[in-house]
Amino acid sequence: MADTTLMDKLVSLCKRRGFIFQSSEIYGGLGSVWDYGPLGVELKRNVKDRWWNSMVHARDDIEGLDAAILMHPKVWEASGHVSGFSDPLIDCRQCKNRFRADDPRIKGTPGQPDAQCPVCGTRGSLTEPRMFNLMFKTFMGPVEESAAVIYLRPETAQGIYVNYLNVLQGSRQRVPFGIAQIGKAFRNEITPGNFIFRTREFEQMEMQFFVKPGTDTEWFERWREIRMGWHHALGLTPARLRWHQHAGNELAHYARAAYDIEYEFPFGWNEIEGIHNRGDFDLGRHQEYSGKKLEYFDQAANERYLPNVVETSAGADRVTLTVLADAYREETVEGETRVVLGFHPALAPIKAAVLPLVKKDGMPELATEVYHGLRREFTCFYDDSGAIGRRYRRMDEAGTPFSVTIDGETLTARTVTVRHRDSMQQDRVALDQLAAFVRDRIRATDAA
Ligand code: GAP
Repeated sequence: MADTTLMDKLVSLCKRRGFIFQSSEIYGGLGSVWDYGPLGVELKRNVKDRWWNSMVHARDDIEGLDAAILMHPKVWEASGHVSGFSDPLIDCRQCKNRFRADDPRIKGTPGQPDAQCPVCGTRGSLTEPRMFNLMFKTFMGPVEESAAVIYLRPETAQGIYVNYLNVLQGSRQRVPFGIAQIGKAFRNEITPGNFIFRTREFEQMEMQFFVKPGTDTEWFERWREIRMGWHHALGLTPARLRWHQHAGNELAHYARAAYDIEYEFPFGWNEIEGIHNRGDFDLGRHQEYSGKKLEYFDQAANERYLPNVVETSAGADRVTLTVLADAYREETVEGETRVVLGFHPALAPIKAAVLPLVKKDGMPELATEVYHGLRREFTCFYDDSGAIGRRYRRMDEAGTPFSVTIDGETLTARTVTVRHRDSMQQDRVALDQLAAFVRDRIRATDAA
């Protein structure tokens, strides 16, 4: 069952602690557009870095790319987005609100007198469904005329297809190989919502893997396994991850087969990543629309073919929301509620907090030294204000896995206490071993 309270608490924590803010909030906000604050930007970067490392740095057969958001308008004709990337929508003539045709709140038949607007309640004011393209349009150059219309990309994948030969030639890769990209995408979603789950501006982490026709099914299965493994390695609760296979009528126009990786959010099971077997649809269409040959020449076999594509497409914001929702927990400790974001340490925005027990006896000076030392390797936070218990709680809410306290013994024995966020247990660690202690624990949880 949907747990809206949990979602409300998460949204409020994200704002309070500086993870995520509504865009242009002082002007009343901009619908379904969000800004990442100091902790949020670190969290999302960690998600993206893990994806990039696993896709590009850890593999010899994938190259990175950063294509422009603005592309030639013909790209979107070739991709099918101009003609097919639309939702059926209904307008209310009275209050001017717009709804998806499948909006469950609509009563009656839109276009008929019995239909009732779910917002203003007027009967007979709803239009029949009309197709509405989800791409944002803008104009290139100084003239606002139809010839100058271009689009903000609704997916990053097309930047990869149109560059596939450039990358192939420049990198000396051979099929099978992949191209990975992280970047912004824009969709004028009509029923956006659920915080950063469905937004109008978002980031995708996409990889297109080019394979020999006939080997696509095998690669599709291999990539499904790799991608599910990646989500598990983020430390997400395994029972909250599952597959959803697209039935024939659900398949996108480009896909031969498709599976979604779904996560059980507080508002129900929903897609976080799609794995698609796109066949030769994309390269075939770009070859046709550009008039440029996009075939691959396999020297060893002396044959030419248009590669097939297996795509893995995840939303960086959706995965970030998944990580936040999975990490959020409340516990009762000594009669008080403790709110914890139990992030995997490698994802935590702040790895270690450095806290002098009191603001005297040389402790702040030594703590500052420790802080600067640790900061060379880890994101750290220095906090000397308030009772130590309250400072620990603040770090629990920020998801900081280690809190290092400088106390009397630090001055005499050169040791500190390291308090663990999840167990709240404390270890006594020699100052000269501190960085290694933190490093080893982060690595250990990664390997687990
Ligand atoms: N290139 C294929 C493609 O774009 P998609 O299923 O439309 O496929 C892939 O999108 C992923 O992008 C989704 O699984 C989701 O994580 C993310 N995504 C799509 N639309 C989004 C939106 N409006 N807000 C946030 N993330 C979105």
